[in-house]
Amino acid sequence: MKVDGKDIRTIWLDKDERIIKIIDQRKLPHEFIIADLKTVDDAIEAIKDMYVRGAPLIGATGAYGMYLATLNAPHDQIDIEYLTKEGDRLKSARPTAVNLAWGVDKALTAIVNVSDPARKIRLAKETAAAITEQEVENCRKIGEHGLSLIEQLSSSKGGQPVNILTHCNAGWLACIEHGTATAPIYAAFDHGLDIHVWVDETRPLNQGTRLTAWELGKHGVKHTIITDNAGGYLMQHAMVDIVIVGTDRTAVSGDVANKIGTYLKALAAWDNQVPFYVALPSSTFDWNVRDGVNDIPIEQRDPAEIKYVYGLDQDRTTKVLICPESSPAANYAFDVTPAKYVTGFITERGICQATEEDIRSLFPDKGR
Ligand code: MRU
Repeated sequence: MKVDGKDIRTIWLDKDERIIKIIDQRKLPHEFIIADLKTVDDAIEAIKDMYVRGAPLIGATGAYGMYLATLNAPHDQIDIEYLTKEGDRLKSARPTAVNLAWGVDKALTAIVNVSDPARKIRLAKETAAAITEQEVENCRKIGEHGLSLIEQLSSSKGGQPVNILTHCNAGWLACIEHGTATAPIYAAFDHGLDIHVWVDETRPLNQGTRLTAWELGKHGVKHTIITDNAGGYLMQHAMVDIVIVGTDRTAVSGDVANKIGTYLKALAAWDNQVPFYVALPSSTFDWNVRDGVNDIPIEQRDPAEIKYVYGLDQDRTTKVLICPESSPAANYAFDVTPAKYVTGFITERGICQATEEDIRSLFPDKGR
């Protein structure tokens, strides 16, 4: 995507191939910072502290983390014990998004039976790069498939603006390019359809306010930031034509884990007959989990993320306390929307219903 006229991705290999470059998303939209990852510890910190975030992007970061592991192996001993240990450390950085383990395991599988250390390093680098390119292409195809839904809504409204509600940031910043939930939005905009996006603020880290609004604005897409609690009201008053969200892990049954608050949007959409779609690449399906509500691990983050907010004061970013300092807070970062509330999935292979049968018919080659 373009930022101030320049093409940029969220992760890339530096000219010095021992360094991975990322956008540090923590201070966006007020500061645009590029950070270097040189070691596995750097990659873990970037994932944990959310310099990088969003399921596809942390999958790619996990794979590049394994490349960094091969580069930094003690005494050049890139053996299986060492790689497994580094892979496990990377995987435990964030528990909910299945893409992280998927990216790490793909890199590990590519190199585990190779004995030549130089070849191991090269293969790890190539695998991480291939994952990155594949996710870009998957997101582009999600855009193509999702476009048809917005086109139908646009023609049923006689070309009046289509109002799309989204939660969190499932945009290019959460991926590498295009985004998942935003891919159909960008495709519709680029096709000249009149669209408008309701952007949930997404407390506590405000991925909607800070990141989705910034991205959409840079692309010229009309949007309005709303509080997390406004969606129900808007849906009751026919101000939302479709909800499109991303996901961090979707069970093969169709249960969807996504940023906390997604479930409440799905309930409101269900009650108001608003179509509720989830956009995802196949890397976000968990082929081993059926009961998403009970079996998808839900990350709990530092309560300080609720108690403090960051913002721009004059011309510098500042952190302020917004509650009684002594009040406890509980920071559940994700929730699970049962499949029955999901109208459909927008994937790289097309659109399907939220049932195991339909998911497997699109992906007969996966997860067996
Ligand atoms: O905690 P985050 O910001 O990593 O959560 C991200 C989300 O919940 C996204 O909706 C999800 O990863 C889909 S990414 C395209």
